[in-house]
Amino acid sequence: MMESELVWGRHYLAVEPTAFRVEYAINPFMDVEVQPDAALAFRQWHELVRVLRECGARVDVLPQRRDAPDMVYAMNLGLGVLDADGDRRAVLSHMRYAERRMETRSAERWLREHGWATSVVGRDGVGPHLEAGDAFAWRGSLVVGYGPRTEELALKHVAAELGVRVQGLKIAHPGMYHLDLAFCPLDARRALVCPDALDATSAAALLDLVPEPIVLTEEEALTTFCANSVVVGRTVVMPACPERVRRQLEEWGFTVRVVDVGEFHKGGGSIRCLTNPVDVALGRDLDVVPGGLVELA
Ligand code: ARG
Repeated sequence: MMESELVWGRHYLAVEPTAFRVEYAINPFMDVEVQPDAALAFRQWHELVRVLRECGARVDVLPQRRDAPDMVYAMNLGLGVLDADGDRRAVLSHMRYAERRMETRSAERWLREHGWATSVVGRDGVGPHLEAGDAFAWRGSLVVGYGPRTEELALKHVAAELGVRVQGLKIAHPGMYHLDLAFCPLDARRALVCPDALDATSAAALLDLVPEPIVLTEEEALTTFCANSVVVGRTVVMPACPERVRRQLEEWGFTVRVVDVGEFHKGGGSIRCLTNPVDVALGRDLDVVPGGLVELA
């Protein structure tokens, strides 16, 4: 049976990699001795954007700051939603590491110039950290990983700011420091899930949340980045796809498109990290809960 598709995921922001490097190491994948090939990274990124557009997605492009080598991971700039009137609102990230904080200023300027109202939960190291790569709209809630990057206190701020229910999941794995390295919603009932990223209680809560999961091993998630994928309707755009995962996806009626973004794995991110969906709608993809609500596993 065909399950209902994700409605969001058809409009993205992305940052063209004109200054992508590994200048510091803030996650276990980064090694300043192993630099990306700039020309190859540029081609990989353009191929990804081409495939997303071919799948019917719209992709808007922000320029990269020369002094912000990680800005290519646009997912972490902030969390955009459309409110009931169709107005655009974004809660900007407050990065855990100072090395990335200047990205927010550029994103803020760009978003405002493009009709977004912006807010923050913290800035320049003051206030709780929030990194949008930890957050997903799914089954009416904002599912947010916290621990390595996003702080628990930020969940409260986001819930109140947007008036939504936040389901917090505690990340316990240093290599899966954002939830999007371990979780990928596929449609209204299905998702890729790597429970090893979470502590025992949160792993159980996530499996409870997903009626039909494809459970990934730690090795699959870490070595292939396959959870760091995006879904456009029934197409899953993935950096790699283990055979067993492909069989299940195809059995469920999905088309798998593999796009090599290997140069970006050197910075610790893949396809989902490079793209930020900006078509999540309050009241449609996220239930409206006046005042907001946080549920922790
Ligand atoms: N080097 C970046 C960082 O450590 C990678 C970000 C990956 N992005 C993501 N959405 N998981 O912050």
